[in-house]
Amino acid sequence: MDTVEIRKDFPILSERQGRKPPIYLDNACQTLRPRCVIDAISEYYESTPACAGRSSHRLATEVSLKCDEVRADAARFLGAADPAEIAFLKNATEGLNTVIFGSGLASGDEVVTTDYEHNSVHIPLLRAAEMYGIRRRIVRSSSDGKFDLEAFEEALSDRTRLVAMCLTSNVTGYTLPAREVVEMAHSRGARVLFDAAQTAPSMRIDVESLDVDYLVASAHKMLGPSGLGIMYAKNESSCCLTPLAYGGHGVTGATLDSFELLPPPERFEAGLQNYSGIIGAGAAIRYLGRVGLDAVREHEVALNRRMTRALRGIDGVRILPPSDPNLRGGILSFNIKEMVPHDVAMILDNSRDIMVRAGMHCCHSLFESRGVDGAVRASLYIYNTTEEVDELVQAVEDMSQKF
Ligand code: ALA
Repeated sequence: MDTVEIRKDFPILSERQGRKPPIYLDNACQTLRPRCVIDAISEYYESTPACAGRSSHRLATEVSLKCDEVRADAARFLGAADPAEIAFLKNATEGLNTVIFGSGLASGDEVVTTDYEHNSVHIPLLRAAEMYGIRRRIVRSSSDGKFDLEAFEEALSDRTRLVAMCLTSNVTGYTLPAREVVEMAHSRGARVLFDAAQTAPSMRIDVESLDVDYLVASAHKMLGPSGLGIMYAKNESSCCLTPLAYGGHGVTGATLDSFELLPPPERFEAGLQNYSGIIGAGAAIRYLGRVGLDAVREHEVALNRRMTRALRGIDGVRILPPSDPNLRGGILSFNIKEMVPHDVAMILDNSRDIMVRAGMHCCHSLFESRGVDGAVRASLYIYNTTEEVDELVQAVEDMSQKF
């Protein structure tokens, strides 16, 4: 990957007034945005600041056509055969909530999940347990941080209605064996929901061949704008989903006493939408298409191998499993001796302009169940370099010697 060329596309990575650009290693939270995405967003406000799917004037028609194009691009990006299987929401969290609260779960139903979920899966499931009396079956990871297929098989039953899991952990970077999970779930008659927010930015997903029922991603983790989530819902599985929100544009019509929902995806898109976000996401998807997801993954893993090897050699550094960087993509979470993760992140920022995320990463239950008080997370993407990795390693080494 030609990082020198790629870096030129990101305004924040250019040297400004003699000041070196920051070392941005918080990509699992959100990535930086290339000029083409920023331009696409501005272009919407400058040239076509209108509403899609309602008014029929020229500006509105242009926005509608652009949004349709992005829907088709997003479908291709995820391997969906039909663009109508793609809905634009405000984030991945909204997609997860839509499936968990909209699929008619009822008392006695079981939902199988893992012990390392982001709160966006974990909390809606806890709430669904309170509201509907569903039972959660939690698959514990093995000691090396991997998904335990045997434990999963045991957790499945004839009462399992839904399997809801993060495809790639935002804390460890581990990706579960998706194909096996879907096959095993379907063989018990359960539908599968994957949170692919951390997968979509750097691994090829083919929802058709995977045969997953629902999958969500976030534009802001893959070079796109914040405030735009993408939900894939397979045609035969979306018909039974009710939306979270109701309002304008989600219905074919209404009388004083009744209404009729539009078919998917419009039924999930009630109210005025984030058109600049959709158009910006389209630019991001096209940019990623030019870079190539295989190259993205290869770059991340190569940097992660270097970072892992070096950090492993530093006294007092503990890396969250799995230990093999090939299984962690661009993510590495660690602790240094007894240092508080937030202190480590602050020192990195203040002394070296290195940006990482520290704490529980919206995965409180994972840390709580393992008795760990948070971690520092360095997460890599296409513009990161070996020099940046080496700089982080040097900073960690200095800290470990001082504390
Ligand atoms: N889920 C995002 C992260 O891991 C916010 O940082």
